[in-house]
Amino acid sequence: MNSQAIPMVDLHTQYQSLKNDIQKALNETLDNTAFIMGPNVYALEDEISEYLNIKHSVSCASGTDALHLALRALDIGPGDEVITPSFTFAATAEAIRYVGATPIFVDIDAGTLNINPTQIEQAITNNTRAVIAVHLFGLSAEIDSIRSIIKGHNIFLVEDCAQSFGSNYKNQKTGTFGDVSCFSFFPSKNLGCYGDGGMTCTPHDEVAEKLKLLRNHGSPKRYEHTIIGYNSRLDEIQAAILRIKLKHIDEYNEKRHLNANRYSNALKSLGVITPSESSDSTHVYHQYTLQHPQRDRVIAALSNNNIASAIYYPKGLHQQIAFTEGDPAISLPVTEKTSNSCFSLPMYPELTDNQIDRIIDVCKTELQ
Ligand SMILES: Cc1ncc(COP(=O)(O)O)c(C=O)c1O
Repeated sequence: MNSQAIPMVDLHTQYQSLKNDIQKALNETLDNTAFIMGPNVYALEDEISEYLNIKHSVSCASGTDALHLALRALDIGPGDEVITPSFTFAATAEAIRYVGATPIFVDIDAGTLNINPTQIEQAITNNTRAVIAVHLFGLSAEIDSIRSIIKGHNIFLVEDCAQSFGSNYKNQKTGTFGDVSCFSFFPSKNLGCYGDGGMTCTPHDEVAEKLKLLRNHGSPKRYEHTIIGYNSRLDEIQAAILRIKLKHIDEYNEKRHLNANRYSNALKSLGVITPSESSDSTHVYHQYTLQHPQRDRVIAALSNNNIASAIYYPKGLHQQIAFTEGDPAISLPVTEKTSNSCFSLPMYPELTDNQIDRIIDVCKTELQ
């Protein structure tokens, strides 16, 4: 039996292939000593604006901060409601609480696992100020339906692109549809750095100016402070690393897509629900997520064969104590069913066909 471990993400192999470029960039950055808001930070912002085709990119310290700063830049605060899926990482809704607003959790679509636009329509009240659409696992949310539902209601669209860098919706990049979009460069993200990092993007000039103030102590120039801001700047070293990885992102996303196809072709006839794809969008497979009622059996078999797997997410946020305390219990059946049956397989560009076939063989043995 081949028992070499297969991790969920293999950052080591990718680093080896980029090592020379990264070492060179690190040496230059260290020699330059412009560690805060140095040239790589501004260059990365320009390169990401160009890649996405969006007017403004304003970097910050993490994806969580990107969401927080986005809501502050849109003046969302106490008394406001923000509609968001429950089936997402906690940061999406934490940001809503940070600004004192109320997260209104709605259900997902059983096919895409993204926010269900019909549910948004039902959740809109006079207090609704924004919808945060999460492009979960790398697949774009249903942008056109969401936009047509919120149109005329004076509701902002915020995109949580933490898992979707480079994915398309109708031939346009995710992150270019919202009033603000928010990216995470956490190391395991499909565009990840070697620490924490984040980015906000916006087509609006005044929102971009506010985002720049917010990430740097509300300060338009040294020792002048016009609003209360934060220390949320992207690190120069991380920016230098991201500029190298950005050059490879299309190739990485393409490789993830090929890996996902290999998985799906082998597994789709076995009673598992494989990830949905649509002709409208290009999935970048930040995660490759399946659903099966006996997932625990499959996970145990994978583990016995030295293969990692993970559950994103075992509970909806509407079931998490941090968000339910003091709130009436709500039921979101699709989220609950999905969190009880989903599991994700190893996914990264460097995953080899042999590794995928080994994973498929274990799944087949359990599912057949
Ligand atoms: C959907 C989603 N939103 C937000 C975040 C927060 O990003 P970060 O970890 O960079 O703060 C993540 C990261 O895990 C995420 O997956």
